[in-house]
Amino acid sequence: MRYGVLAFLFAVPLAAADSCVDCHSVLEGKLQAPAKAFANDIHARFGFSCADCHGGNRNETDPEAAMSKARGFVGKIPRTAVPERCAHCHSDASLMEKYKPRQRVDQMAQYRTSVHGKRLASGDTKVATCIDCHSVHDIREVKDPLSPVHPLRLPETCSRCHSDKTHMASYKLPTDQFANYRKSVHWEALAKRGDLSAPSCASCHGNHGAQPPEVGSVAAVCGTCHVMMEDLYKKSPHQPVFAAMGAAGCVVCHSNHEIRPPSVGMLAGPNAVCSQCHDATSAGGIAAAEMARQITSLEKALARSDQVLANAQQSGMEVSEALLRQREGREDLVKAAVAVHAFQAAAVQKPVKEGLTIAAETYQTGVSALQERTHRRLGLLASLIAIALTMLGLWLAIRSIEGRTAKTSQLTER
Ligand code: HEC
Ligand code: HEC
Ligand code: HEC
Ligand code: HEC
Ligand code: HEC
Ligand code: HEC
Ligand code: HEC
Ligand code: HEC
Ligand code: HEC
Repeated sequence: MRYGVLAFLFAVPLAAADSCVDCHSVLEGKLQAPAKAFANDIHARFGFSCADCHGGNRNETDPEAAMSKARGFVGKIPRTAVPERCAHCHSDASLMEKYKPRQRVDQMAQYRTSVHGKRLASGDTKVATCIDCHSVHDIREVKDPLSPVHPLRLPETCSRCHSDKTHMASYKLPTDQFANYRKSVHWEALAKRGDLSAPSCASCHGNHGAQPPEVGSVAAVCGTCHVMMEDLYKKSPHQPVFAAMGAAGCVVCHSNHEIRPPSVGMLAGPNAVCSQCHDATSAGGIAAAEMARQITSLEKALARSDQVLANAQQSGMEVSEALLRQREGREDLVKAAVAVHAFQAAAVQKPVKEGLTIAAETYQTGVSALQERTHRRLGLLASLIAIALTMLGLWLAIRSIEGRTAKTSQLTER
């Protein structure tokens, strides 16, 4: 009896409130899947349901009446109509305000300006619409780690199309962005070290306005995070010439997707970027060689100190202060790599000089510690020898006493 009342209380309002979910939950395949997935959808959490996107009447249990065209029912929403459907709410500031204060309502406006949006408007349905990035029936809050637009998942979301050669065949675009990005310092930082400040696709391309940053603004894209390099680059002789050449700032030397760990090898040697444009005898070539020489000299000096300090530490000497100083020397190495972006040997000289002073100091500390160790060892050896000699003396003395006693007793026995 009590259970009957409970069942009545729960079952009736639900059945009456949402015939769409009820009926679709017991269908099969493609008709059932949306109803099952919808439990995790943010729209379900906020009390929305099937009819808020598909139209129809959720209070009708008869399928004809529920899915009636007269009530605005749309079955599978055509791709070209998707953004408008979503924007019906998401561009409505007063509606969205009720659910999430200060939520952005410019997704549709932005989307219209993107390559994706423009092409969709012209009837190309192979581009991304809202549901290709956010999924459908399983739409999650963007900060949910399971959301397909979460920074760690986004590269795969974009690459579903952008790495698919057949999907992209009718366009002139390469399909190597994700493959290249996966080899980059940024993916390394993001995916392997969990550093969410490293850029995913949308950090550089924007999300709703997804397009390549315009050539002139690429330095600005990188510079939003790498402020010091941008400041130096902007004042460097390259900025005006690269801009006039139509080349894209940082990308000329670092590439866009496949950004590899930078090193002095970019300045000189077989993989140098500078030699692509400057021959060795030009001002640029000479500057590159000089910067490489300076940075290498600091690298070598620091490595030499590392070695001697490691030896000292292994033999039990106290060199922790010098090891801390070494870190400051490494910071100078980083400062030198930053200063490279002025593209003048003089700019690199200052941090290198400071670093070399530190390296000389720490090397000296290490050498002294090793000398001290040698002294101590010699001292130890001397005392060991002295002890050994004393012991030997004692032993000889004891033996001679024993010898004499033995003789005396032999004599007395006879
Ligand atoms: C009593 C069962 C029942 C109810 C209630 C019901 N549906 Fe359906 N729905 C079906 C069946 C069966 C189909 C597949 C046959 C068809 O297309 O008519 C279907 C198809 C659909 C489709 C896919 C159409 C297509 O073109 O692929 C959508 C979308 C849909 N329903 C949404 C809704 C919504 C929204 C509601 C509530 C307003 C609703 N349904 C209520 C049974 C139901
Ligand atoms: C936030 C908007 C939204 C909500 C809410 C929503 N749908 Fe959909 N639904 C769509 C869109 C957009 C498509 C088209 C998907 C596509 O093109 O792949 C779709 C497609 C479908 C299809 C066709 C699937 C296929 O592959 O043919 C069915 C069936 C369906 N929805 C049922 C439902 C049911 C049942 C609910 C409620 C549990 C629901 N939808 C809630 C937006 C929505
Ligand atoms: C090319 C992929 C892509 C498309 C297409 C796309 N989005 Fe987004 N969307 C994203 C990304 C990425 C985020 C941000 C995630 C983050 O902040 O970490 C986002 C964020 C959002 C947010 C959270 C608020 C905000 O603006 O940051 C909403 C709401 C949203 N999108 C709705 C939509 C709607 C509606 C459409 C269609 C008009 C759409 N999106 C199309 C990728 C996309
Ligand atoms: C009936 C109104 C309505 C429709 C239609 C609608 N949404 Fe929403 N959506 C909301 C509300 C309300 C929220 C919850 C507030 C929020 O999180 O922004 C929300 C949340 C979201 C979020 C999570 C944003 C966040 O805060 O992280 C995304 C993503 C999203 N919707 C995408 C879509 C997409 C894609 C479509 C179309 C397929 C769509 N919505 C259709 C009302 C709607
Ligand atoms: C660190 C910033 C950055 C990240 C991260 C990034 N891109 Fe790019 N992307 C660029 C720049 C800059 C360009 C323009 C290249 C130019 O002008 O030389 C570009 C160009 C593109 C293009 C145009 C075709 C091409 O290859 O030149 C596509 C498509 C693209 N990116 C997709 C992606 C995808 C997908 C991801 C994630 C897997 C991604 N990008 C990650 C900066 C980035
Ligand atoms: C559903 C497939 C699909 C998804 C998902 C998708 N794109 Fe696209 N994208 C395309 C197609 C198709 C084009 C049109 C190519 C053209 O016009 O040259 C395009 C164009 C672009 C362009 C412009 C390239 C140019 O120079 O014309 C950029 C940049 C881009 N997408 C980035 C992204 C990013 C970033 C994501 C993920 C956040 C993403 N796309 C998700 C299909 C997709
Ligand atoms: C959203 C912020 C962001 C953007 C945008 C960005 N980066 Fe980065 N970048 C990072 C982070 C975080 C790291 C990892 C730093 C580390 O290794 O600790 C990094 C690492 C690097 C490194 C390697 C640094 C090192 O010491 O190993 C280079 C080179 C680099 N980025 C160049 C670029 C270029 C070129 C662009 C533009 C095409 C760009 N970045 C755009 C945040 C960003
Ligand atoms: C003309 C070529 C060139 C351009 C343009 C350029 N860089 Fe570099 N960048 C280098 C070289 C060479 C190094 C390596 C220096 C070293 O490690 O000795 C480097 C190193 C870096 C590093 C690593 C610094 C560190 O901490 O070790 C980052 C980050 C970086 N660049 C970002 C940028 C950004 C952002 C831009 C655009 C504002 C840019 N670069 C423009 C040549 C260039
Ligand atoms: C894409 C081609 C290109 C690359 C790569 C490049 N430069 Fe340049 N660089 C130029 C151009 C063009 C100028 C201005 C014309 C000139 O003076 O040669 C210039 C000017 C300079 C100047 C000023 C020369 C003067 O006469 O005052 C220096 C120094 C310089 N570059 C150093 C470097 C270094 C170091 C690298 C590598 C990290 C590098 N450049 C990489 C094209 C390039």
